[in-house]
Amino acid sequence: MPETPSRKIGLAVLISGRGSNLQSLIDACRLPDFPAEIKVVVCNKPEAYGIERAKQAGLPCVVISHKDFSSREAFEQAMLNALSDYDIDLICQAGFMRILTPHFITPWAGRLINIHPSLLPKFKGLHTHERAIEAGETEAGCTIHYVTEGVDEGEIILQRRVPILEHDTPDDLAARVLEQEHIAYPEAIRLLAK
Ligand code: GAR
Repeated sequence: MPETPSRKIGLAVLISGRGSNLQSLIDACRLPDFPAEIKVVVCNKPEAYGIERAKQAGLPCVVISHKDFSSREAFEQAMLNALSDYDIDLICQAGFMRILTPHFITPWAGRLINIHPSLLPKFKGLHTHERAIEAGETEAGCTIHYVTEGVDEGEIILQRRVPILEHDTPDDLAARVLEQEHIAYPEAIRLLAK
């Protein structure tokens, strides 16, 4: 008898821009053995290209502009409300560029993860590639980690590393790291599903 496939993990993906990591998750979710499926994409920037990617994949995409709210908490509440319409087990921040407060994080603690383009705990925050090159690092990479109140400080789930080459510009390095990001996010979800 064929095995009954176990229930897939329901994902919400939070984005703010280009959405290439969203695309890597969309592509992974098309593989029959991938243990998760995207239930909804939430985007805080109405002009983000990632919205187009979600639409092309036939996924519901909720656009909630943070600019329409007078406080972070009110914006976050709108996201919480939107998410409550879907059967979500895990929220994946994929280039989501808003810092979240405990109002959002606490109810999702342990089920909210982020991808960051550095080898945390090095280079938290922005301009990670430029800073890694300036610091004379020989290695860079990306980190998937749990989201906690301390920005880019939550427990690490996995990292992938790349070399920094002698004449790298920040853009060269960003492209090399991004390739690994697209492998890392699906890999992290497989790991969490186990
Ligand atoms: C990615 O490099 C991601 O790691 C980074 O933004 C980019 C989004 O690209 N995230 C952060 O810097 C979070 N602090 P994408 O929209 O093509 O996925």
